[in-house]
Amino acid sequence: MINLFPLARPFIHAIDPETAHNLTIKALKAGITGCLGRSEDDPILGTTVFGLDFKNPVGLAAGFDKNADAVSGCRKMGFGFTEAGTVTPKPQPGNDRPRLFRLSEDRAVINRFGFNNAGLEYFEKQLKALPKSSQPVGANVGANKDADDRTADYVTGIQKLYGLSDYFTVNISSPNTPGLRALQSKAALEDLVGRVLEARAEKIREGQAYIPILVKIAPDLQEEDITDIASIARDTEIDGLIVSNTTIERPESLKSLQKVEAGGLSGAPLMVPSTKVLSDVYRATGGDVPLIGVGGIASGADAFAKIKAGASLVQVYSMLVYEGPALVEKIKRELTVLLKNEGFKSVSDAVGANHR
Ligand SMILES: Cc1cc2nc3c(=O)[nH]c(=O)nc-3n(C[C@H](O)[C@H](O)[C@H](O)COP(=O)(O)O)c2cc1C
Repeated sequence: MINLFPLARPFIHAIDPETAHNLTIKALKAGITGCLGRSEDDPILGTTVFGLDFKNPVGLAAGFDKNADAVSGCRKMGFGFTEAGTVTPKPQPGNDRPRLFRLSEDRAVINRFGFNNAGLEYFEKQLKALPKSSQPVGANVGANKDADDRTADYVTGIQKLYGLSDYFTVNISSPNTPGLRALQSKAALEDLVGRVLEARAEKIREGQAYIPILVKIAPDLQEEDITDIASIARDTEIDGLIVSNTTIERPESLKSLQKVEAGGLSGAPLMVPSTKVLSDVYRATGGDVPLIGVGGIASGADAFAKIKAGASLVQVYSMLVYEGPALVEKIKRELTVLLKNEGFKSVSDAVGANHR
């Protein structure tokens, strides 16, 4: 594979990060991925999770393609699946710029976008225009900042997009919409999950197919929050959890001056804390609930660490800023070697290996 990113990186990093990101989305929309040539995925990477088949377990995390503008281009980067969104029912501008910061010394990112997106109607059109593909696409739904009933916004997202994505993610863990993360508390989450599952049940009664629904949680949770979320996930028909979103913590180790910016931190410093929460959630759910591990993945070893901690699939975002699209092939190549070296027959064979 020929990787053009190292040549382009100094130019890309010389411009404001949000502008650079918007240019990347435009390039991907035009089919330009920055990498030429890609190998077939090794069969050891194939896996089936919540009833969906994945050629490899490495997905693109939400927030990269908020409006499902570039799903086809993202698929060409070699991801096993792509999650678009977060989309809210009404379009909204998000917070004032600047709202995206590179912490280059720390290989990290801080964002406080605040769900800037073009709304459900636009997102629906994009999904309808997508060619059929064996690479699943997820729709990550959220709530408008000014919504009176935020839970109703999640229900609206699922109703409107039902049948257009292979799975849904209910994102209740963005730190950039005031109060949103309170939906992770027991009573609020029980209500939300109940209403969202009823929306799906209604679609199924109307003759539509079963679409998995996942809940995405924050890394900044107390032990009792994890216990509550785990019991809700176990006792209801929620299909999985995504662990985790960005953190509001600022680890001591951060060196970049931008660490003072408000928002969610992601990238390398999130790897250890998000994997710890992932491991805790796996233990709390007894391994019964499929998990997607996300936060700070920069290598096959990081992806493998998440899988052994309990992830059935993984996702990446921030490290693409530093490594470019070739990161996807690198993670898959390294993961293949690690699985084989440790004698695992498949990804699913290694899920939760640390707990055995
Ligand atoms: C710029 C940016 C925007 C994001 N926007 C969203 C979003 O809209 N919805 C969401 O669920 N997660 C969003 N995330 C969180 C990522 O999906 C991911 O959970 C988090 O960044 C940790 O993974 P990473 O360290 O590989 O980036 C965003 C992350 C970044 C860096």
